[in-house]
Amino acid sequence: MNLLKTNPIKDFSSFSEFSNYHLPLIESALTNSIQAVDDERSCLTDAIRHSLLDAGKRIRPLLVIASHSLFSSDVSSILPLACSSEMIHTYSLIHDDLPSMDNDDFRRGKPTSHVKFGEDIAILTGDALNTIAFEILSQENQPFKAEPLLRVVHLLSQLSGIHGLVGGQVLDIKSSNSAKDIQALKSIHHKKTGALIKFCIVAPALLHEADEILIKQLEKLSTHFGLLYQITDDILDVVGDKETLGKNPGKDHLLNKLTYTSLLGLEVAKKRAYEEVQKSESILDQLEQTYSLSAQCLRHILYFILNRTS
Ligand code: IPE
Ligand code: IPE
Ligand code: MG
Ligand code: MG
Ligand code: MG
Repeated sequence: MNLLKTNPIKDFSSFSEFSNYHLPLIESALTNSIQAVDDERSCLTDAIRHSLLDAGKRIRPLLVIASHSLFSSDVSSILPLACSSEMIHTYSLIHDDLPSMDNDDFRRGKPTSHVKFGEDIAILTGDALNTIAFEILSQENQPFKAEPLLRVVHLLSQLSGIHGLVGGQVLDIKSSNSAKDIQALKSIHHKKTGALIKFCIVAPALLHEADEILIKQLEKLSTHFGLLYQITDDILDVVGDKETLGKNPGKDHLLNKLTYTSLLGLEVAKKRAYEEVQKSESILDQLEQTYSLSAQCLRHILYFILNRTS
């Protein structure tokens, strides 16, 4: 395993300490990744900035950094990958909100892209973010070898496509008419939300050429993080308020979506969320014992996800 331990890995005693340290780095990397154009296409860059910047919790880039911190303290080297994850996520939100999908008018505390810029530009904004993600991920002058980078590009294309995010969104759309059972529900959540979270946790390990057993452990861990993330999203759709969420609650019921709360009820959904935390904890313990790694940052994110209010 290629452990780039040039500096001691910084200790963060809480999620807020960890996120306060890294969020400015993420924000400035995202801001710098959008190049200005000064012709008719400027509406596209305006729309990209509107949805991407000063918005969102940045959980995916934070997960990328937390996973990378198992191997290295050099945060700057992982920022392209962190930005890619946020771009794919933001594109998915823009398309998720379209009138033909969840038909939402409020996202990240702002009007949705199609409300502000029109449906045509919103669709193209999602398309553009989807490709910028790969442009950034495959850019030159990264301190990683070409072969693991290619593996990571392949992983992102797999996990964001038909076998991952896009496929999950299709199953989600069809869920109001299809079989309503826990297996179907898990399959939707693993794909529409879990796949990108898997990318965030596994890709840094691929770049650092971690051994395959560790990669498998991180894959397993990521399935619990991913499921937890969407269970808590389902719960917040029921118990959250618009101002704190920055998006409209109550949409899943309105659209007759298959969710943890609609299938199992609120209390069981909360219990299932906690079970995912316990399963994650035991994998994190194993990782720390077997590999002498510090998984503290991943633990901070785990509890942030469990207790989040937005
Ligand atoms: C919302 O994601 C959609 C899901 C996949 C659950 P987030 O809750 O991470 O949204 P932002 O990025 O903070 O806006
Ligand atoms: C969206 O799931 C998952 C994506 C891939 C975007 P939701 O439809 O539940 O997300 P919100 O609640 O609108 O953020
Ligand atoms: Mg949706
Ligand atoms: Mg939605
Ligand atoms: Mg939701």
